[in-house]
Amino acid sequence: MKALVLSGGSGTRLRPITHTSAKQLVPVANKPVLMYGLESIADAGITDVGIVVGTTSREIVEAVGDGSDFGLTVTYIRQPEPLGLAHAVLIARDFLGDDDFVMYLGDNFIVGGIVPIVKEFEANRPDAQILLTRVSDPKSFGVAELDEHGKVLRLEEKPQSPRSDLALVGVYIFTARVHTAVRRIQPSGRGELEITDAIQWLVDNDCAVQATPISGYWKDTGNVADMLEVNRLVLETLPGGLAGRIDAESEIVGRVTVSAGAEISGSRIVGPVIIGAGVRIVNSYIGPFTSIAEDCRIVDSEIEFSIILRGSSIEGVRRIESSLIGRNVEVTPSPRAPRAHRFVLGDHSRVQISSDHG
Ligand code: DAU
Repeated sequence: MKALVLSGGSGTRLRPITHTSAKQLVPVANKPVLMYGLESIADAGITDVGIVVGTTSREIVEAVGDGSDFGLTVTYIRQPEPLGLAHAVLIARDFLGDDDFVMYLGDNFIVGGIVPIVKEFEANRPDAQILLTRVSDPKSFGVAELDEHGKVLRLEEKPQSPRSDLALVGVYIFTARVHTAVRRIQPSGRGELEITDAIQWLVDNDCAVQATPISGYWKDTGNVADMLEVNRLVLETLPGGLAGRIDAESEIVGRVTVSAGAEISGSRIVGPVIIGAGVRIVNSYIGPFTSIAEDCRIVDSEIEFSIILRGSSIEGVRRIESSLIGRNVEVTPSPRAPRAHRFVLGDHSRVQISSDHG
């Protein structure tokens, strides 16, 4: 069995972060989302992996390389435009050959990995194995309608009037029959070749499509709220460990990971928290569910339930919550009167000012 990992696309809901970097590389607990997917593919015993890449290919190739860090052999498949998940299958035909394959969306996060689903596929070998989970906002997903025996009747991509609250999770397993399906379908209203339509084609053409409900945790990390939620969840599983320098005036509470080369002085850190290499934290409070990536500088500030990407500097801000802050960002007090907010914000930035300080 092979794996096809989709890491192209545009990531509009994570702008402005995704103006400059791939959404699959936004870190969760200081490790890119994509890496968790690659690890779970390796855990399932799959070694031959194709990664579909688009405009952010350079960055993805830089992060994943030849895959040997994960025990994988990686082939990159260039998708000139994000024309849909089924289009990605279409262009990966040479790589996939006639093998069965797991298709894994690079921005999806599945707790517990994919070993159970691969085993289930191997036991029955349907033409398509899909995973379903109940969601509160089915309009944002592919949605499945099942009969009373759990057989798939109909699949619809982001329907206006969903027939159920069962969303398709971004991990699918296919036999080579899917290659016929992706050639038979037409682009959807949003101009994409939808994998949902390809699976519907399999249903309509008497192929075996097996739907497995999952109760475990799954998130599509396409938006900031989900990203913060996955970060919270992963941080809760980390054992903690203090490798950096922590002075006597600092207090560390709960499971906190301080990487080698980080320095903490006069600060209170309440876990679960991860602090990357080369980070300096001075006279600050870092609260639960916060990940601070390498080389950040946090001075006289309070931060909680947030993700800060590498090289950012935050000074004199009380307090930051529920935030995703990009790379090399600077947040500092304005230097002189009048007391005012001064911004240099990238396109599609979102800032919420606390009215107390307005
Ligand atoms: O997350 C689950 C959902 O994923 C399913 O419920 C939907 O049925 C499925 O269509 C998909 O919906 P999204 O709108 O979330 O897909 P998105 O455009 O975010 O793309 C998913 C991943 O695939 C992402 O890592 C980008 C990559 N991609 C996407 C497209 C459209 C590609 O590599 N090439 C593409 O052409």
